[in-house]
Amino acid sequence: MRILTLSGSLRARSTNASLLRAAAALAAAAGATVTSGDIGALPHFNPDLDGAGAEPPAPVGALRRAVSEADAVLIVSPEYAHGVPGVLKNALDWLVSSGEFIDRRVGVITGSPSPTGGDYAHAQLRETVRMMTGTVVDEACLTVGTIGGKLDRQTGEITDTGLTSQLADAVQALTAR
Ligand SMILES: Cc1cc2nc3c(=O)[nH]c(=O)nc-3n(C[C@H](O)[C@H](O)[C@H](O)COP(=O)(O)O)c2cc1C
Repeated sequence: MRILTLSGSLRARSTNASLLRAAAALAAAAGATVTSGDIGALPHFNPDLDGAGAEPPAPVGALRRAVSEADAVLIVSPEYAHGVPGVLKNALDWLVSSGEFIDRRVGVITGSPSPTGGDYAHAQLRETVRMMTGTVVDEACLTVGTIGGKLDRQTGEITDTGLTSQLADAVQALTAR
């Protein structure tokens, strides 16, 4: 099982990246191969750069190859202004017409300092993946609220055992065949 991870936060000390690292470690321990997708260098989506006969920009080609080589995609993201961070929506827009998401198993995790766990962005991400005909795996989807209290302030490691167990269940569901 090959899992590609996508992070909706580019922040060096991102709490969502901490969740992603923990999920990736759990997946690797369960025998999966985990790679992380680089979406920070993608140009803004422009269909003119992607038309018939046009070679897509190199970072776009790399992302499309990474998705096509994966069996499953794990998206972990914050919510910005009750929506999906632009950097992540931009990446998904580049993948809509090229079709690599079709039938990919997809888990969606949103983390937030708010108790709501980024539920607006969570719902929007699920809907976008569904529209892209990815297979949203319900049991691999989580909203994580009050995230700051569940991570070590210095290392970002998860200190909340309940959260670790929820992540382990989500990873197991994503990797189940
Ligand atoms: C521009 C901006 C908008 C935000 N909007 C929301 C929001 O709508 N809902 C929410 O739960 N948190 C919101 N936040 C708080 C983020 O959830 C918080 O900064 C979080 O730590 C970002 O995720 P990260 O730690 O993975 O980078 C916002 C933060 C920023 C900078």
